[in-house]
Amino acid sequence: MNNNQDIINEVRRKNDIVDVIGEKIPLEKRGKNYFGVCPFHDDTNPSMSVSREKQIYTCFSCHATGNIFTFLMNYEHKEFNQVLSDLANRVGITLSGFKTKKVSTKYDEWYKIYDLANKYYQNNLLSKEGEGAREYLKNRSIDDDTVKEFEIGYSLKERDDLTKLLTMKGHSVDLLNKIGLSSEDHDIYNSRLMFPLHDLNGKVIGFSGRIINNGKQNKYLNTKETELFKKGKLLYHYHIAKEEARVKKSVIIMEGFMDIIRASTAGIKNTVATMGTALTKDHIKEIKRLSNNIILCFDGDEAGVKATLTSGELFKSEGIEVKVISLPGEYDPDTYILKNGKDAFQGLIDNAIYFSDFKIKSLSRNRNFASSEEKANYIHEVLEEASKINDTIRTEIILKNLAKRFEIGYNTLEKSFKELVNNKEIKKEVIATPKTTSSKKKDKYQKASLNIIYYMLNKQDIIDVVESEHLMFPTEALRALESEIVYFYHKYGFINEADFYTYLTPKEELLNLLNEVLEMDLKTTLTKEELFDYFKVIREYNCKKAINSLEEKIRNENDPVMQVKYAEEIRKLRIGES
Ligand code: UTP
Ligand code: MN
Repeated sequence: MNNNQDIINEVRRKNDIVDVIGEKIPLEKRGKNYFGVCPFHDDTNPSMSVSREKQIYTCFSCHATGNIFTFLMNYEHKEFNQVLSDLANRVGITLSGFKTKKVSTKYDEWYKIYDLANKYYQNNLLSKEGEGAREYLKNRSIDDDTVKEFEIGYSLKERDDLTKLLTMKGHSVDLLNKIGLSSEDHDIYNSRLMFPLHDLNGKVIGFSGRIINNGKQNKYLNTKETELFKKGKLLYHYHIAKEEARVKKSVIIMEGFMDIIRASTAGIKNTVATMGTALTKDHIKEIKRLSNNIILCFDGDEAGVKATLTSGELFKSEGIEVKVISLPGEYDPDTYILKNGKDAFQGLIDNAIYFSDFKIKSLSRNRNFASSEEKANYIHEVLEEASKINDTIRTEIILKNLAKRFEIGYNTLEKSFKELVNNKEIKKEVIATPKTTSSKKKDKYQKASLNIIYYMLNKQDIIDVVESEHLMFPTEALRALESEIVYFYHKYGFINEADFYTYLTPKEELLNLLNEVLEMDLKTTLTKEELFDYFKVIREYNCKKAINSLEEKIRNENDPVMQVKYAEEIRKLRIGES
């Protein structure tokens, strides 16, 4: 066996999939499999099953399938080699002698250019022309270590120096335009403090440039949207927060990346920020992976409160109740930490409140409780909010506070609260519709073929039978998959779904088909009769196909002798068929 494949299989075998996935998402045992909420699509139901026996996972809803390698690659946005080395570390295997193959992509040149630009900007900051920018940073109390850590740079006043440098290195102006660094042959960024933007894996995929003399221009200028940089998906600092969130067991979302930088100087690095846009479902999907303790820490102004309310609701619709830190009106996290220090800020984090409590508080803002109607409206809104909380202790506290504050009998409140909850439950039952299985309709030939392939992967002696029977699968893809299985089996002397999956991963066109097989869960025993029934179905298909093609030949044939010959062949096939 080739050395790499050997190591890969060993790493996979020593890392149990249930343990590895269980460290990332809660799994619950049901029957012989484990179930959890699938992290690869919007969901709150446990539709992902993880099999200890087969060492694979499959989601019945979005059909994500694979082994520990694919799980971690998708879940943590890491490349195969990184995942392999993490898993090797996890079980104490050293990867010496492992030869990595670099897969090149069309974005390699983009990454190279962004890296060059990043270094160039950082150098500028240290040059004579960077003096004003250094002064600006000093005034904002951003020290040299922070500048280094966040790779802060400076773009020069001239209009085309970066473009010149990059074209001299052989990159086309067209590409520079396309990836947002140049416009025609001029630089996009001039006289701005430069902050590189990293993708979720930590690769630079754009910049944000800040003016240093407040003027008429936009304060920050972000790289335009490209194939790599999408504001609706990017989260600033995610690649660092990924590790930190695990240590701190929480993640904090802020509005501005200056807030992130400041918090980092206070040792708080489990933070992410959007790039000046509202949170999207895509953002939430990524944040959910970091921790289930999510804290919003937006600016203290009116806009920040609004953003907190909409973001909190969005999280709620995804089944998560976040916590909230509300800053005094005039602060953002940056200025708060600068003014009050890190201990004060840590105090705010430790005392973050639940989103529902924040919302209930904010419901009473700008309200005139002198009017009894307004009072009643408010109470109803609070009850409505409380009815969404799944924690009787918390709801009781809310009701008690409400009773005290508005001098209403607790029993009265409790009664309307219970009515509200009951009505909701009835509604839910009415709306709930039975789940439909969304699996694509397969014909019986496809089904028989997939069943055979399933057993070839799970019972090795079936491989020999299939081979000796010279079975011809109906489609090219099925035949290709079969020959890969046979190849793997003869080369390595064994086969199982999880290792075969790793082996097949580079062959994307076959992977979809294999995914369908991995999703299947057939009974463990298979009699010879059952196997031959599957064979029969496939032979019937082949026979029909052959007859069709002979009939076609007859239609196109003018020579009656040949026509008779074809008809005879058809007759023979028909006899063989019955
Ligand atoms: P803020 O205006 O709150 O920025 O915008 P900030 O973090 O306080 O910045 P400083 O302290 O004045 O330097 C929050 C985020 O909105 C985006 C940026 O991503 C910023 O971090 N933004 C803001 C823009 O994209 N363009 C702008 O002109 C302003
Ligand atoms: Mn600020």
